[in-house]
Amino acid sequence: MSVLIKGGRVITAADDYVADIFVEHERISLIGASLDVPAETVIDASGKYVLPGAVDPHTHLDMPFGGTTTIDDVESGQRAAARGGTTCHVDFCIQAPGTSFSDSLADWKSKAAGKQVIDMGYHIAVTDLKNGGSLEELATLPDQGVTSYKLFMAYKGALMVDDETLFKTMEVAAETNALVMVHAENGDAIDVLVKKALAAGHTEPRYHALTRPPETEGEATNRAIQLARVAGCALYVVHVSCKESVEPIQLAREKGWDVWGETCTQYFFIDFTHLEKPDFEGAKYVYTPPPRDKANQDVLWDAVRRDTLSAISTDHCAFTWGEQKALGRDDFSKIPNGGPGLENRLHMIHHFGVREGRIGMNRMVELLCTNPAKLFGLYPRKGTIAVGSDADIVIFDPEKRHLISAANQQSRTDYNLYEGTEVVGDVDTVLLRGNVIVQNGEVVGKPGVGEFVRRARFGEQLTAAGADAPAAV
Ligand code: URP
Ligand code: ZN
Ligand code: ZN
Repeated sequence: MSVLIKGGRVITAADDYVADIFVEHERISLIGASLDVPAETVIDASGKYVLPGAVDPHTHLDMPFGGTTTIDDVESGQRAAARGGTTCHVDFCIQAPGTSFSDSLADWKSKAAGKQVIDMGYHIAVTDLKNGGSLEELATLPDQGVTSYKLFMAYKGALMVDDETLFKTMEVAAETNALVMVHAENGDAIDVLVKKALAAGHTEPRYHALTRPPETEGEATNRAIQLARVAGCALYVVHVSCKESVEPIQLAREKGWDVWGETCTQYFFIDFTHLEKPDFEGAKYVYTPPPRDKANQDVLWDAVRRDTLSAISTDHCAFTWGEQKALGRDDFSKIPNGGPGLENRLHMIHHFGVREGRIGMNRMVELLCTNPAKLFGLYPRKGTIAVGSDADIVIFDPEKRHLISAANQQSRTDYNLYEGTEVVGDVDTVLLRGNVIVQNGEVVGKPGVGEFVRRARFGEQLTAAGADAPAAV
């Protein structure tokens, strides 16, 4: 299979130039001006951007959570991702209590079998080191390409781990060069606040935020940073939503510590007032950490500009509003936590970030493609456009208008966080390792075209031959 992409504006984290790209055997083999090579497929990209396929480091597909299971399985979630220009994601394999890590991974891989439309990897979410998963087994996972360990410091009684489990996992990560990821909120304090609110008869969706104040996120972020220092591991704080969490990350990075932070698309656009929408509509915005006061949105834009936060993910964890969110009609704590977003990350960040002058194009590519690939052991196979990289390529029409709506989305959920937003700039064509999976904005990739990717360890590169030379991250 060979593809020639002609005359597009190639934009990576570092470069911006007009060129042709020739793809052979799933990889980029030539980049140059006016390439004169025969190809089975020729795509005219003139007037369009040619971007690396976006990498989403934080998604939840087919995940049991909050008394139900996310509405998007691997197929519908990855169709949404592909339509939005994402060609690789790293999903969370959640260790079921009492289950070994290898059994958990086998279970999650079986959910993906035959359904993959894009490439994917897994983080392992450690929930139980006493019955089931052992530290010894955890140490073997990077050899299988699972090179990041996730811990939830919240969701008491469900996914939350204690500091002993957190710290012991960090010690293993220090030995194996895995990256530790934390959901940083103080789950014990939140549990007290939730019980108090319910006892006082407060059941509406807005209490989701009122019982999870930003200080609980700031405290847990700082605790994780300090513990990571003691253990000597690299730390990545997921879904940072507020100033209280940005500040300790900023301080750690100023000190040169191995600390990284991510925020998610929704935190730039959705604020606390969305939870106050009448007739239970606020439940659409019940995700964790919760939508914050609007002032935090500028803090987050500033943080991604300064590289205090280095990646933007979606935390796609979709439930239907009509049925699944309704589980918490009379009790906000029973509303399944999570929101959709895989399809619209590039739309929203391009329109409101780049077009409105908050970040440049190169920085957008860095936040959505290159940094997630580097941090999670996918670079330079993923996250950039270079000779030898996988031909994961997005041809993006910067002037095409797109109306974001549940009515035209791939996700199976019945709402969209950005319903009715008209963006300028849309995905036209997407290639996954040279295979056209989106054409004229239509998903044409067949389930099975996507593959599981064995990721390199933190700080190592992933090339065609596998993990090798140290990379600057
Ligand atoms: O509300 C959310 N974010 N649900 C997904 C699980 C998590 O905390 O990332
Ligand atoms: Zn989380
Ligand atoms: Zn998440």
